[in-house]
Amino acid sequence: AERVFSGVQPTGNLHLGNYLGAIKRFVALQESHDCIYCVVDLHAITVWQDPEELRRHTREVTAAFIACGIDPSAHIVFNQSQVSGHAELAWVFNCVARMGWLNRMTQFKEKAGKDRENVSVGLFAYPDLMAADILLYRATHVPVGEDQKQHLELTRDIAQKFNTDFAPSIAAYGHGEGYFPLTEPLIAGPATRVMSLRDGSKKMSKSDASDFSRINLTDDRDAIATKVRKAKTDPEPLPSEEEGLKGRPEADNLVGIFAALSDRTKADVLKDYGSAQFSAFKGALVDLAVDKLGPIGGEMQRLMADPAAIDAILIDGADRARVIADQTIREVKDIVGMVRG
Ligand code: TYM
Repeated sequence: AERVFSGVQPTGNLHLGNYLGAIKRFVALQESHDCIYCVVDLHAITVWQDPEELRRHTREVTAAFIACGIDPSAHIVFNQSQVSGHAELAWVFNCVARMGWLNRMTQFKEKAGKDRENVSVGLFAYPDLMAADILLYRATHVPVGEDQKQHLELTRDIAQKFNTDFAPSIAAYGHGEGYFPLTEPLIAGPATRVMSLRDGSKKMSKSDASDFSRINLTDDRDAIATKVRKAKTDPEPLPSEEEGLKGRPEADNLVGIFAALSDRTKADVLKDYGSAQFSAFKGALVDLAVDKLGPIGGEMQRLMADPAAIDAILIDGADRARVIADQTIREVKDIVGMVRG
């Protein structure tokens, strides 16, 4: 059976990139798949988080999921730390993955920067925990933005190495060919990598110091209008064909955002706005963004006003996730050779 898993870190400033690259696509997959969507608080603490903020951001991501249209009763929404199997399987994967594999992770290199001696061990082992998230549920498909591609390749490598390292034991327990699936990344659409509004060479990110670099899910019309109006562009009018966006990263980004928000292709958007000036295009983009994001921000605020109701959703989700996770953990312990009562 096909199962979707994905996660979002509760580190604040949820933005348009998170929405178009991930959450909007989580919503669409509910029609065709069993979905598990996780607020990954264990990942968040690989960089120090203020405890009160971590709680607030965990509820905020949950509220965003629901406000965007994820149905927590038909699917599963929970926070990672409440299902102990994530940490348990991550430990096993720490012993499967090789130092060399993790050394090649570009996200670690970016996040650690020059201060390698001073980042947490957890930040280095982060991708093993991510593989554990996915494989704990033996998920077959993982919708993410482009920046997670390398982590998903590592997840496949870990699954494959586990399957070969323990092949006889896996067979002895009757699991047939390979225990873990080789998960498929789902990275598609016109907005797999939304760029900063201030700099077309940097991705839109939660941690950018400038709030003008991103549109937050909770921004109101004024904020959206100001940010789009100030967004960096070039002096040429828009091209009529997608080909014409090459070498124009800011134009490409805004057209991609427009396309993703309106469920169209970039080529299709350019049929309407080819040879338009940016001022006109930006006006249309503000209207579109306010139309799509306004209700989400409003609904998030309404949900956030009742934290107990959000917590109840997370508790119920964790209870249902645990049923699947506990079985995997029992099977993995048997396969690896751990005696259990
Ligand atoms: P995180 O919390 O940084 O981002 C959540 C999702 O948003 C996507 N994303 C973007 N997409 C397009 N353009 C952007 N500028 C942009 N910025 C972020 C991310 O690709 C992601 O899909 N490691 C993950 C969380 C995670 C996870 C998992 C994901 C933990 N375990 C298991 C999938 C499966 C992360 O840091 O996402």
